[in-house]
Amino acid sequence: MRHPLVMGNWKLNGSTHMVNELITGLRKELSSVTGCDVAIAPPALYLSQAKQALAGSRIALGAQDVDVNLSGAFTGETSASMLKDIGAEYIIIGHSERRTYHRESDEFIAKKFAILKQQGLIPVLCIGETEQENEAGQTETVCARQIDAVLNTVGAEAFQGAVIAYEPVWAIGTGKSATPAQAQAVHKFIRDHIAQKDAVIAKQVIIQYGGSVNADNATELFAQPDIDGALVGGASLKADAFAVIVKAAAAAKKA
Ligand code: PGA
Repeated sequence: MRHPLVMGNWKLNGSTHMVNELITGLRKELSSVTGCDVAIAPPALYLSQAKQALAGSRIALGAQDVDVNLSGAFTGETSASMLKDIGAEYIIIGHSERRTYHRESDEFIAKKFAILKQQGLIPVLCIGETEQENEAGQTETVCARQIDAVLNTVGAEAFQGAVIAYEPVWAIGTGKSATPAQAQAVHKFIRDHIAQKDAVIAKQVIIQYGGSVNADNATELFAQPDIDGALVGGASLKADAFAVIVKAAAAAKKA
């Protein structure tokens, strides 16, 4: 039985005040919730502060990106060993905003996956098609290509304990989520695709949905057999809204 994971991606939002306030709110809202793993990914600058504010809670710390190098002359970067050092566990890679604004390639993202595994961290690999690709009927081709770049670099075994987040780009921050049926079809495709390499790992791998998940659509999305929680952007910036999503995931898998 897979344990769902709901993770908040704060993106470029935060301040010292906001980090403490939001985490205090989340701890209160989620103190009695079991049956769902929870993580938050604040901006890198606030990770240490967030780690302290999370001490003693069940909420894990995540990060939004990582560099492909461990140390050296790479101005502005954050390494996997640094993330490990400060206590982050779930590291988002390949987010569409990184792919678009920083022109990150499938191969570059595969290197990030490899370095995270090497450091014992959990990659949260984001994949998904653009609106144009969706309309051209290329959703499966794009998702397969994005996963294959990683499979070919690290092998299917590396997906053991890793997380995939299917995030159709057209659904991110638009308020236009994929329908539960649409998302389920792609999640099943992704799981079947990995199963061609390793059926046991395909069954275990967590596949989150991401893209305009909110309190109103979470329950129906999580009712789908291949949707194991969510990567949440906008709705993760409010403790009560995020808590509703976490509780929906916990309830779905208990039912
Ligand atoms: P959203 O973002 O929930 O605001 O659509 C999701 C994401 O980018 O991970």
